[in-house]
Amino acid sequence: RPRVLSGIQPTAESFHLGNFLGAVRQWVPLQDTHEAFYFLADLHAITVEHDPEVLRRRTRASAAQLFAAGLDPERSTVFAQSQVYEHAELQWILSCLTGFGEASRMTQFKDKSAKEGTSAASVGLFTYPILQAADILLYTPHLGEKDFQVPVGEDQRQHLELTRTLAGRFNHRFGETFVEPNAYILKATAKITDLQEPERKMSKSASSPQGIINVLDEPGAMRKKIMRAVTDTGTEIAYDPDNKPGVSNLLTIMSALTGTPIIELESHFQGQGYGQLKKELAETALGVFTPVRDRTLELLADPAELDRILEKGADRAAEVAAGTMSVVRERVGLLRRG
Ligand code: TYM
Repeated sequence: RPRVLSGIQPTAESFHLGNFLGAVRQWVPLQDTHEAFYFLADLHAITVEHDPEVLRRRTRASAAQLFAAGLDPERSTVFAQSQVYEHAELQWILSCLTGFGEASRMTQFKDKSAKEGTSAASVGLFTYPILQAADILLYTPHLGEKDFQVPVGEDQRQHLELTRTLAGRFNHRFGETFVEPNAYILKATAKITDLQEPERKMSKSASSPQGIINVLDEPGAMRKKIMRAVTDTGTEIAYDPDNKPGVSNLLTIMSALTGTPIIELESHFQGQGYGQLKKELAETALGVFTPVRDRTLELLADPAELDRILEKGADRAAEVAAGTMSVVRERVGLLRRG
């Protein structure tokens, strides 16, 4: 079976709608057609200052949301990145193949370090994309290029490019080992935007919480945020991202949540006001997210069971990762132990 792999950072109490539509929701059907590996990028989460208890809680809450959204630990390998030690080990080897200038050109580092300046940022934040390359490449050996995909949102494209570059470089220096992996980005939901600033990506670091829909929002709060979403001048409900970014984002979300093509939504809402679109979107969103929220809370009531499921996932992932690393160590010229 072809393979898919993707990760998500447990850096908030809840995933937001961008994470859900851009990533998690694509992951669910892929578990039936692919051998699927999905992980919580907890090592990436510590590249910025964090509280240990909060990280532990968010890692469990993130796992619970993945399961509540439909990932099945029997059909997918779901695990915490830090529990598969090979991720960090391969990261070191790949970092020795990455140019300092090359790493400096990663836009996400520039964005994330912009606030406090690059000298205040951690080296971990700087090498973040190299750890991501390791996350991916560990699971690629023995596969053809078409047989390996990484389902992500648009903002991960540059990291996937670096991953391809590093795979090619490693193969060139040490012999054919890794596949150059492809990003699998669904255009329709690649970039969900902020409800208050519809020109900007919906992001955990948004300036106002009002612009972010969280999977675990209380129903009343979710409805309010949708009803207060910024719309555009004019009255027509039409998809036109350049001139009507607010309405277009709402249509994109509605279409993704219901499976109804945008053209059909446009004719459905013909002659109606923005208020009606928001009202129907709020109903739809509550219908989708209320059960996910309820199930997440149920799963969180038994953290020991969540830990057991994640450990099983890590055992399965580690089998693949350990196989890759023994080849990598050999090719790089490191001595064997035992
Ligand atoms: P993270 O945790 O920021 O986001 C998880 C996924 O959600 C997608 N996403 C969006 N999609 C559409 N619209 C949005 N507004 C939006 N915001 C976020 C992201 O593109 C991502 O797919 N570096 C990664 C985690 C990671 C990873 C990996 C991913 C670590 N190692 C290996 C793939 C493969 C990240 O920060 O995702």
